[in-house]
Amino acid sequence: MWDSWLGSGRVVGASDALLQLGTLLPERWRTERALVVVDSAVADRADQVVAPLSAAGCEVATLVVPGGESHKTWSTVEQVVGAAVGHLVRRQGLLVGLGGGAVTDLTGFAAAVYLRGVDWMAVPTTLLAQVDAAIGGKTAIDLVYGKNLVGAFHPPRLVVADPRWLATLPLREWRSGLGEIVKAALLQGNGGWTQALELPAPPGGEEQLWPLVEAAVRLKVDVVKRDPNELDPDGGRAILNLGHTVGHAIEAAAGMGPLSHGEAVGVGLLAACWLSEQLVGLDPSVRAALRARLTRWGMPTGVPQVDSDEVVRFVARDKKNRGDTTIFVLLRAPGEAVTAAVPPALVEEVARRAVSDLL
Ligand SMILES: NC(=O)c1ccc[n+]([C@@H]2O[C@H](COP(=O)([O-])OP(=O)(O)OC[C@H]3O[C@@H](n4cnc5c(N)ncnc54)[C@H](O)[C@@H]3O)[C@@H](O)[C@H]2O)c1
Ligand SMILES: [Zn+2]
Repeated sequence: MWDSWLGSGRVVGASDALLQLGTLLPERWRTERALVVVDSAVADRADQVVAPLSAAGCEVATLVVPGGESHKTWSTVEQVVGAAVGHLVRRQGLLVGLGGGAVTDLTGFAAAVYLRGVDWMAVPTTLLAQVDAAIGGKTAIDLVYGKNLVGAFHPPRLVVADPRWLATLPLREWRSGLGEIVKAALLQGNGGWTQALELPAPPGGEEQLWPLVEAAVRLKVDVVKRDPNELDPDGGRAILNLGHTVGHAIEAAAGMGPLSHGEAVGVGLLAACWLSEQLVGLDPSVRAALRARLTRWGMPTGVPQVDSDEVVRFVARDKKNRGDTTIFVLLRAPGEAVTAAVPPALVEEVARRAVSDLL
């Protein structure tokens, strides 16, 4: 069980969190109208959220939207706003995002702009949304020009994560969450990293998984508290990008579809470890252990389907770059992250190794 505060937002996770939902709702919501935006993948279980909201006194309406990235768009936000207007949700009312990260991101964004901002609650139903997307207050939608191009910092007032949603998660989505969990474990070091190395292949292993989920959430909450609006370029929130410089580049080079975000992050973490060995003295045993664990989880350790020049080009476009220098988050050891400028020759070499499965 975890229960922490991030600014004025409460983040609660427990194996019976849904059963506690009624008691977690702030008093001021109990006489208000709530619109629950439901991911189609969990629509048959929406009542687990709707019933306690109604029992607490909220006037509840639901809107089912298709889950997944391709629907994280203006037109879905328009549907949400239309439904909120239709249900007469007022400034004091609330939106609830029930689903994967795409649905929590777009519901949070709709809550940021509807009536210039209303409260919202996130009920994340994928592993990735529970450890990452629903935590930290970033909300966004995608445009044809690129992902997450329009958004707002608009933290949910309440996040309620319950492992029971995960029972229906496809293997690919498990792996996507594991990429972020192993990233958090590397940033945390010590016990967390050791525990991550013992996690069995998904699905299952809930007893071993849940403490790691909890640790990943705590890490993100702590980091975001120090830098809520991502203004500190070196420390702060930027360290959460460990593995993401090469990870995002691989994802972009592969195009939508073949790799899940977490799978790309897994390879990106191997790349960050290799660069850390070259530049800041990370012990190579960390990369070897990570590689063995990714293989055990059925995740890729290389990406033969992409072109290494493409990867280099996408790394060069990374938003963290300053001038021509690529800034990476690296590790001196698990638990000791640093940011460092990486010379172009090493970026090319690590991209070649990622593509050839030599990390
Ligand atoms: N705001 C942030 O800080 C932040 C951080 C990381 C990621 N994100 C965003 O999160 C999104 C990715 O989230 P995601 O990985 O949850 O993917 P997703 O929301 O696309 O969900 C993946 C698939 O799983 C389905 N699904 C959801 N819950 C399910 C369940 N319990 N059982 C079976 N299927 C289920 C969805 O319908 C979808 O088809 C991206 O849009 C990304 O940009 C945001
Ligand atoms: Zn990520």
